[in-house]
Amino acid sequence: MYQIISMCEKHVPRIAALEAANFSAPWDEASIRAELENPLALWLIAEGEAGEGEERPVLGYVGSQSCFEDADVLNVCVAPEARRRGVAEALMLELERRLIPKGVEKITLEVRASNAPAIALYSKIGYTKVGMRRNYYEKPREDALILQKSLKSES
Ligand SMILES: CC(C)(COP(=O)(O)OP(=O)(O)OC[C@H]1O[C@@H](n2cnc3c(N)ncnc32)[C@H](O)[C@@H]1OP(=O)(O)O)[C@@H](O)C(=O)NCCC(=O)NCCS
Repeated sequence: MYQIISMCEKHVPRIAALEAANFSAPWDEASIRAELENPLALWLIAEGEAGEGEERPVLGYVGSQSCFEDADVLNVCVAPEARRRGVAEALMLELERRLIPKGVEKITLEVRASNAPAIALYSKIGYTKVGMRRNYYEKPREDALILQKSLKSES
């Protein structure tokens, strides 16, 4: 079981560790901490069950920034031992629920063209490809797919 809550200071070191372990251009602690003061930022954490006398572990997180009707997902990551349990999907859907009342109408993100798990996640929850940025990523150099989801109801 896990709960999804807003990021706070105590989560920052663990997020930085997950960033370093999972991305070739990771956010460092100072940049993540600065997001706590950024009025445009919304970062959510999935916290697992605490063992006796322990803090609840950070299973995963999603970071976003929004400006008027547009939001960008900056990063999504789930710890390897917590994957394939719906944590990333739950984080992404909770992010949408929290952005809609802020007036956000669409969410955009970039993903490495070879990142099949992430692309499968985003397409499952309704993101579609709207473009590509050639050689956007480094280490290794790779194209980015630009994916987008509209949050506006059809009615
Ligand atoms: C991508 C990532 C966030 C997915 O997290 P997760 O918690 O394991 O994903 P979920 O369990 O919520 O999966 C939701 C859906 O995504 C898809 N998916 C997730 N991982 C997948 C995989 N390894 N292979 C195929 N599909 C996958 C499936 O459609 C899945 O639905 P299903 O379980 O009903 O089949 C995780 O693998 C990760 O942290 N990867 C490293 C960091 C990264 O690449 N982040 C994305 C940067 S753009």
